Amino acid sequence: MMRILQFLVVVLSGLATAQQQALMDYLERRLLAIEDRISLWHEQTSRYASELREFKQQMVSQLEGLDKNKETLRSELDAVGVRVDRVEREMDYLETQNGAQPCVDVDDKLVEQQVTVAKEKNKAKYSKLTDCSDMISSIKAMKILKRVGGHKGMWTKDTGSSSGKVYIFNGTGEDTLYEFGSMRDLSSSQGMAGATSIQLPYAWGGMGHVVYNNHLYFVKDDEELRLVKFDLQNRLVADSAVFPAKDQLPVYTLNPETYVDLAADEEGLWAIYATKENEKHVSLAKVDPKTLAIEQMWDTPCPRENAEAAFVVCGTVYVVYNSKLPSRSRIQCVFDVSDMVTNDDAPTVYFPKRYGTHSSLKYSPLEQLLYAWDDGYQMLYKLQLKKKLEV
Ligand SMILES: *[C@@H]1O[C@H](CO)[C@@H](O)[C@H](O)[C@H]1NC(C)=O
Repeated sequence: MMRILQFLVVVLSGLATAQQQALMDYLERRLLAIEDRISLWHEQTSRYASELREFKQQMVSQLEGLDKNKETLRSELDAVGVRVDRVEREMDYLETQNGAQPCVDVDDKLVEQQVTVAKEKNKAKYSKLTDCSDMISSIKAMKILKRVGGHKGMWTKDTGSSSGKVYIFNGTGEDTLYEFGSMRDLSSSQGMAGATSIQLPYAWGGMGHVVYNNHLYFVKDDEELRLVKFDLQNRLVADSAVFPAKDQLPVYTLNPETYVDLAADEEGLWAIYATKENEKHVSLAKVDPKTLAIEQMWDTPCPRENAEAAFVVCGTVYVVYNSKLPSRSRIQCVFDVSDMVTNDDAPTVYFPKRYGTHSSLKYSPLEQLLYAWDDGYQMLYKLQLKKKLEV
């Protein structure tokens, strides 16, 4: 019995070891399988990581490429912009070339006659009052100061004194002007709130007035063109005179409200006007600011057609042209009373691009500035001057 038991124990324990071994084998196999999978995952993740790295690098280099493309695109756009500008200038030029030939259908004899008349009239030598001998070489800068007022009007400083006062003439046929103590008063004012309003005895006509040495010179809005000199300090009419030209026409076809455009320069007071006698061109007169007497008259070669404004610097008239569809304003005709500047010496000077039209341009000789009214905006242009060529 004991023996049988001993045998059984041996057999059973043998069985147990066999079972244990089998279990161990099984576990080992599983562990190996898990290890395999882990190493597979590891491999995969490191592959993913490197793929991700590569992708990132690709993206970075593509982004750099995009940046470079953007720059070339921008420079290409700039180049296109320059070309558009050039084409626009050429078109402007062609337009004015076409606009500036009002004589083509006129009889040759008539032209000759006109030229002789012009020569006769222009023969008298102008004796200069000052030693001013500058001409415009370019427009150096533009400043938009404010927008007070309507489509058409005029603004100016006192062009003959250093009082610093600024005047606003809103509209083309009003009788109330606004006086600001200084440029700063105007720019900080709410509309016309900071201004003194000055009532005139008559309405002005057009945009041709000028303020010179505390006096306003303007043309009365009436059938007969009368020059009025108004004392701005004492608020009374100082003098008046009928403008001596017959059959007057609007002086600029693009601003037909103005019949006489008064202008001040280093030499004094001028009147730019037009008559039926010389109907295609702008005429010029020297005005005595004390007595309103006309001292001398000239016919200029500058067409009225497509002119929008003009001004005088050192005895030279600069006529500014535009087109009916507003584009770039430019000085395209000059006339010098002392014969030192001809149209050939004077380059076409373009105003900065604004796509507006000037209803008035007033020169301030003390500052070499142009006071411009562009669709209700009060603007300033700084002129670059150079010496006229001595001949
Ligand atoms: C200026 O004139 C326009 C019309 O030409 C008018 O509508 C506007 O109210 C005027 N502005 C001022 C401030 O007087």
